[in-house]
Amino acid sequence: MKEFLMAPGFISPYGTFGADLSSVFAWIFTLLFLYGWQLAKKGKGQKHHLVTLWGMVAMIAYFTAYYLARSLGALSLEGKEGFGGPEWLYDKVFSPILTIHVTAVSLGLILAVYMIILGFRASFIKDRERFLTASPLKMDETWVKYTLYGAAILFGLAAFLRGGPYQRYMVYLSGFLIVALVVLGEKGLEKWMPDGGTRHRKIGAFTMSLYVIALFTSTITYVMLYYLYPAKQILQ
Ligand code: HEM
Repeated sequence: MKEFLMAPGFISPYGTFGADLSSVFAWIFTLLFLYGWQLAKKGKGQKHHLVTLWGMVAMIAYFTAYYLARSLGALSLEGKEGFGGPEWLYDKVFSPILTIHVTAVSLGLILAVYMIILGFRASFIKDRERFLTASPLKMDETWVKYTLYGAAILFGLAAFLRGGPYQRYMVYLSGFLIVALVVLGEKGLEKWMPDGGTRHRKIGAFTMSLYVIALFTSTITYVMLYYLYPAKQILQ
């Protein structure tokens, strides 16, 4: 699988198949989410729900498969060897853009799961259309416990079954800590923004903006890596 992803790409003369596939999917997923956002703005809650839900599920599935196959995204950890431009450009431009990209993608993936759950919690169906509630939305103590125990069992089981190097255990521990942090964040948000519908709209707009930032920064890094400054060993 790794060899397949490292095979020559189909967009630029120097890109790998994995990097090109990721770029195409990044465009498809982002355009799909922007379309979902437009649907919500027009008050088409049910269509918005279907487009964003399945778009997010497909994106998370693709990202997980890619992560398992290649350990990390094509653009994210090429390191200095993957960049054929001058060192100052790497330090002052490429590296900061890549950091923004990785941060936006990581936060975006966490928020994707959070937003899907919030979407169901904060909406209701009437006459085949979906609407956001306009009332306080709280996660009660039982659900806090279920979520934390559930995450501990899930990540604990994954660590037990897959085993492996110490770093892999750290990934599962981070997974559990992220869930705990999101629950803690939600409890804070309940006080600051009690209305469930408002919370969905505000955090939803922030999430959508993150995807636009992720696409913009990934396109810049792609152009730099595979058009302008390909790795020196590729050019030889
Ligand atoms: C990652 C997933 C999601 C994101 C980023 C997201 C984002 C948004 C945003 C930004 C809005 C407000 C649009 C505006 O008025 O400007 C909105 C509205 C809405 N969302 Fe979501 N959403 C997501 C998933 C869901 C899901 C899964 C559901 C239902 C289960 C849902 C139900 C709704 C409804 C009913 C509205 C109100 C539409 C209206 O104004 O009539 N959303 N969403």
